[in-house]
Amino acid sequence: MVNLTIDNRKIEAEAGRFILDVARENGMVIPTLCSHESIEPTGSCRLCVVEAKQGKKTRIVTSCLYPVAEGMTVDTRSERVMNVRRLVLQLLLARCPESEQLREMAAEMGVEAEDRFTPDKDNVKCILCRMCVRTCEKVVGVSAIGFSYRGTEKNVCTPFKEESTTCIGCGACAYICPTGHIEMESTGDTRTIWGRTFKMKTCKVCGRYFAPEDQLVYISEKTGVPAEDLAVCISCR
Ligand code: FES
Repeated sequence: MVNLTIDNRKIEAEAGRFILDVARENGMVIPTLCSHESIEPTGSCRLCVVEAKQGKKTRIVTSCLYPVAEGMTVDTRSERVMNVRRLVLQLLLARCPESEQLREMAAEMGVEAEDRFTPDKDNVKCILCRMCVRTCEKVVGVSAIGFSYRGTEKNVCTPFKEESTTCIGCGACAYICPTGHIEMESTGDTRTIWGRTFKMKTCKVCGRYFAPEDQLVYISEKTGVPAEDLAVCISCR
C-alpha cells in the first residue's frame, strides 16, 4: 500500500493502481472519454489529465495510465490541469463539432469552439479513441471493425468498408463509443449496424425483441449452451 494525497485528501491505495481508479473509488470525478471498466486504458482522449507531484517534480499526466506512488500529491483541478483539459476539449470539438456528448461536456466545463481550430469538414463524431475496435476484438472477440487510412483521413470501419461477415450485430461498439459516432438502429424485429441488417430474437418469457439471432448463435458456439436456452432477455433472467 502507498499513501498519497489527492485534492488535499489523504488516501491509502494499493501500489501500482492508476490515479483515475483510486480517485474514482474515493468519490472524486475526473472527466474521461476513453475509460471503461471493461477494457484496458490506452490514454487516447487525454481528458483525464491531472497534476502529479513526486519529490520536486510536478508533471501533467494522464490519470488513467499513471500509477499512484508513496508520497505523491495529486491535483485534479488545478489551473494548469483545467487549461490543458479545455485545450484538449477544444481540439476534440474541432474534430467532432456535431457530437452531442462532446458539446455537453464542453458546456459543463465552460468551453466553446475556438476559431483558431478549423472544424473538420466531414463532420465525423469519432475521436479515434479505438474503444469500439478494442471492445469488438477483446471483449466480444470478433474483430469486425478496424481503422482505415491515415492522418486526417483515418476512420473506423468494416474491412474495405464492405458489409462485415464477422459482425454479430451485438452493438457493443455503439454502446462503448463515447461520442455517439456509431449508428445503430433497432426497430421491431431488425437491427441495422455497419450497413448490415440483423434479425432480432424474441425473449421466450416476455416476447420482446432483445438480441440479434447471430449474436445468440455466436455465444452458443463459444459457450456450448444451446441457443434456445439463451433466448431470455436480461429482465426475465
Ligand atoms: S481517460 Fe485517460 S486518456 Fe482518456
